[in-house]
Amino acid sequence: MTPRGKSDTARRSATAPGRASNGGAADGAPPAAERARELRELLEHHAHRYYVLDDPEIGDEQYDQLLDELRELERRHPELASADSPTQRVGGEPVGRLEKVTHPEPMLSLGNVRSEQELRAWVERMRNHLAREGVSEPDFSFVVEPKIDGLAISLIYRDGTLERGATRGNGEIGEDVTHNLRTIGAIPLHVSGAPPLLEVRGEVYMSLRDFTALNERRAEAGQSTFMNPRNSAAGTIRQLDPADAAKRPLSIWCYQVGVTDGLSFTTHSQALDWLREHGFRVNSGIKLLGSEDEVIAQCQEWEARRGELDFEIDGAVVKVDDLELQRRLGSVGRDPRWAVAWKFPPTTAVTRLEKVMWNVGKFGDLRPFAVLAPVAVAGVTIKLATLHNEEDIVRKDIRAGEDVIVVRAGDVIPQVVSPAPHVVERKDRPPLPGPPQRCPFCDTPTIKPEGSVFTKCPNPVCPGRAWQLLKHFVSRGAMDIDGLGEKQVALLQDHQLVRTAGDFYRLAEEQLVALDGFGELSARSLLAAIEASKERPFARVLFALGIEEVGEVTGRNLAQRFRDVDILLAAPPEEIAETPGVGEKMARSIRAQLDQESMRELIEDLRRQGLRFHEEGAPPSEGPLAGRTLVLTGSLPQWSRETATERIMAAGGRVTGSVSKKTDYVVAGETPGAKLEKAERLGVPVLDEAGLRRLLDQR
Ligand code: IVH
Repeated sequence: MTPRGKSDTARRSATAPGRASNGGAADGAPPAAERARELRELLEHHAHRYYVLDDPEIGDEQYDQLLDELRELERRHPELASADSPTQRVGGEPVGRLEKVTHPEPMLSLGNVRSEQELRAWVERMRNHLAREGVSEPDFSFVVEPKIDGLAISLIYRDGTLERGATRGNGEIGEDVTHNLRTIGAIPLHVSGAPPLLEVRGEVYMSLRDFTALNERRAEAGQSTFMNPRNSAAGTIRQLDPADAAKRPLSIWCYQVGVTDGLSFTTHSQALDWLREHGFRVNSGIKLLGSEDEVIAQCQEWEARRGELDFEIDGAVVKVDDLELQRRLGSVGRDPRWAVAWKFPPTTAVTRLEKVMWNVGKFGDLRPFAVLAPVAVAGVTIKLATLHNEEDIVRKDIRAGEDVIVVRAGDVIPQVVSPAPHVVERKDRPPLPGPPQRCPFCDTPTIKPEGSVFTKCPNPVCPGRAWQLLKHFVSRGAMDIDGLGEKQVALLQDHQLVRTAGDFYRLAEEQLVALDGFGELSARSLLAAIEASKERPFARVLFALGIEEVGEVTGRNLAQRFRDVDILLAAPPEEIAETPGVGEKMARSIRAQLDQESMRELIEDLRRQGLRFHEEGAPPSEGPLAGRTLVLTGSLPQWSRETATERIMAAGGRVTGSVSKKTDYVVAGETPGAKLEKAERLGVPVLDEAGLRRLLDQR
């Protein structure tokens, strides 16, 4: 389990991985075994900080370093492998099918209440039931929890090790999904201080942010999108290959201790505390309350806060805290008498789809959205909804002029789900709305490039497209210009003050003051913000340029790899492909975009304005590979090409694509290519992965 109380040691040695293995083993275990144990504890500790407490102490890079070290150790000492090692989270074997498993105790469901009166009636029914049982004046305390809209799962730990995880299924029989549950960082693989048998139950879910990102990715790739976070969590957890599940981030809220032999609690809240203290993720908004009035107020509060959460809830769960009372109350059919769900109104509604309109994206792609007859969904009036892409319309069979079902989830943009059931039967349905023949912004005839999911506006200076690019340029992760939002950008465009990003830097106070909504003060502060943006580092500038596929991370990696825009502008695609996270296809596309006339002009313009096109500060010159050039060939046993490149760069080295006399080392893995032959011909030293690691370890 997490090295609680040892966290100081944990933190200290985390900064010096690899060192402790030279020290003696405290309990007489051989050094490798001792180090493996230490690494597992460290990794579990940091996974807990990151996934459960949402408060990491180290960066991803450091975490990966520890994980790599453990992987290497387990590879060299197969006798040290164990099922609850953090290395076992990913990379498990796909299963042929999902095996059925019988739950040790049935997984129950919940009766619903929809109003204050119904909640009071539920408490009254419990009082009556207990009176018949001979318990008069029961001392009720209640626990109120969010009702997570995900899927219920059961985790079984034997001697503290996660042995099996299963879906609820029909309550009696579920499906074994251990392989996928292991990939969820918030689920501990090992629990120290656990009884020999421990069952923990909880709800697996996908956060709204991850859900939106996943759907966007799927829409870009022309795949079907998920209707809601619950469906996408359910689809993920039932994957046969854990590698597929690992690509879609899930989390868990734990809400119950199931069967155990050795733990005994008198209240549900004690059980929740125990779970929390033993590394399980338990929602911190769960409250223990003494009266019905407080319970009602708390349920209403969850309802009011619903839209602020990063996960979907469809109600609040109210549970009797006293476990002896729970036992006496028992259940009726599948529903326990001692718990109830306070259900929120649904987040879906039926309304008329007035028309489908099209926006143009940063790269000219036409994206449909729905204009709806205004409708109230969970307390908010919606008029617009997203439709992802044109195939999405066809797949969902949505027509303008018909009633459709819309759904709103938290802060996520509302979505059109399907036609309303009563319209699908009709014979004379209107045609499917297709993409426009001409760009709605510049009237240029649209094209549909082969292999693309999107119809495009090919006009590079289309004002609709420019608006997206300019918005991106000034946005948070990019140049982060305070005071420039989508409205202001549109205003500046409409007054022909800004056409390309370089124009922002030529704005004058009197031009701004002449615009609606600007005073002298706001104009001055905007100009100051624009000026201040010149200080943004090269990586951000690269991101801000709006090169397709260059997100924040790739922007950073390109900046680190090339350090200067002129070097990047001269680099062949093979060299661009050596950047972590950049494949060959992507490199060719980046190369092509950098070669566009308009891009060259933009870069030149921005450079003249004083933006940073050079990575500041010396390269990591202290590193053991400072000033060295390395070439990678073949596949390395432990490290991906990307990891190896990152490590080399972090150590001050450079990775290039071709071997020359200037190359310091060639690192060759399995099935090396012609680069190895060339290295041998030129007398360049050749290393294997272990050799590279030794170089990196030199101080
Ligand atoms: S307790 C009493 N607590 O709701 C036994 N369930 O409608 C029932 N759920 O299958 C489980 N959040 O999938 C419980 N805090 C919570 C919950 C919760 C969501 C789900 C769970 C269950 C369903 C019952």
